[in-house]
Amino acid sequence: MIRDRFRALRAAFPSFEIFYSMKANPSMAIVGLLQELGAGAEIASGGELFLARELGYDPLDIVFAGPGKTDRELEDAIINGVFAVNVESLRELERMSRISKLLGVPARAALRINTTVGLGKVGGGSAGPLHEQMAGGPSKFGIDEEKLQGLADAWDKRRIEIVGLHVYTASQILHEDEIVANAERTAAMALRVEELMGVPVQSIDFGGGLGVPHYEEEKPLDLSSLGPRVEEVFKPFREREGFRLILELGRFLVSECGVYMSRVLELKESRGERYVITDGGVNQFIRPVLMKVKHQAAVINRLDSEGVATAKATGPLCTPIDITCDALSVPGDIAIDDLIGVFNAGAYGYSMSPEIFLSHPTPSEVLVMGGKMHLIRERGRHEDLLLNQKRFPGLG
Ligand SMILES: Cc1ncc(COP(=O)(O)O)c(C=O)c1O
Repeated sequence: MIRDRFRALRAAFPSFEIFYSMKANPSMAIVGLLQELGAGAEIASGGELFLARELGYDPLDIVFAGPGKTDRELEDAIINGVFAVNVESLRELERMSRISKLLGVPARAALRINTTVGLGKVGGGSAGPLHEQMAGGPSKFGIDEEKLQGLADAWDKRRIEIVGLHVYTASQILHEDEIVANAERTAAMALRVEELMGVPVQSIDFGGGLGVPHYEEEKPLDLSSLGPRVEEVFKPFREREGFRLILELGRFLVSECGVYMSRVLELKESRGERYVITDGGVNQFIRPVLMKVKHQAAVINRLDSEGVATAKATGPLCTPIDITCDALSVPGDIAIDDLIGVFNAGAYGYSMSPEIFLSHPTPSEVLVMGGKMHLIRERGRHEDLLLNQKRFPGLG
């Protein structure tokens, strides 16, 4: 599925380079697979930079975004020569200049802009909104559009090359017209940045935010219609020599291929409510609760059995919020040791979850490719819990 998604994107957006947003699923096998297919890496931390470099990524195929970067992270990015640090404030640009001076290494930046206009709608289904807007209002992300002039005045041209701009408006967008309108705003913004900064823009990182359907009434994006419309918007830039157009995507590439699996430990009925209690919960898959997204789930080893009741699928954690699916269809023959699979779990599943809560071993990860299973992350051990900890006896 990942390969198909990547190839479909390539075909629909031939002028764009596809960068994979590692935060969605940073497993080395997944990032490595996308790297082999030709994806760049969009990173958001020093840790992700480390992983990308371990995989042998060319620094020119790495962009670094994030509203709070430490000096150490900026240093690493500059020393490694990433294509662009997406600066998100005037102070960050100043910090970059200072660090670049100290290191004696020039740096490249792109301006991440918080546009004045955001999206009209993002996603959403009957069970609640999927709003993940990051621009268009007050935001910790990016530089407010109206503050660009001040930034132009403070820019140290000797140290920092401004290579372009970055606009990431929202995640999980399922409305084609909104994406096209967003592209139009971004293209107009690029011309404005050129005028204000007095240099030609060499790259536009248009973010992306392409969503995946979670609810029946949501339709998948039609790339064959979306791609050409977005390509058309950026046509004037495409024609410039050496110009880089970037799409950075996480969930669109990896969400739908992932299934979060846990094993049934207990079946309960309490005052009219049914519970299927498994060995994995929000410690490994918090997304449904945190982002208020309803994920479909099923008893994976009984897909042919008919559902006779509805239950809450929960983990073993000591909190009532530990629910991975609140309407699991339960077959009549469900039994202890069955497997519950939660779908659409390939993005922001494990990577977003508070795995240390209750000190359960971390889950294994299995990549299924061509009908074969490959263990790509070993299950954790209890001993791992001691890692990096120090006992401090004598305080009692
Ligand atoms: C700056 C930036 N780029 C890319 C992404 C990836 O978004 P998605 O997984 O929706 O494609 C995010 C998600 O938070 C982001 O903040």
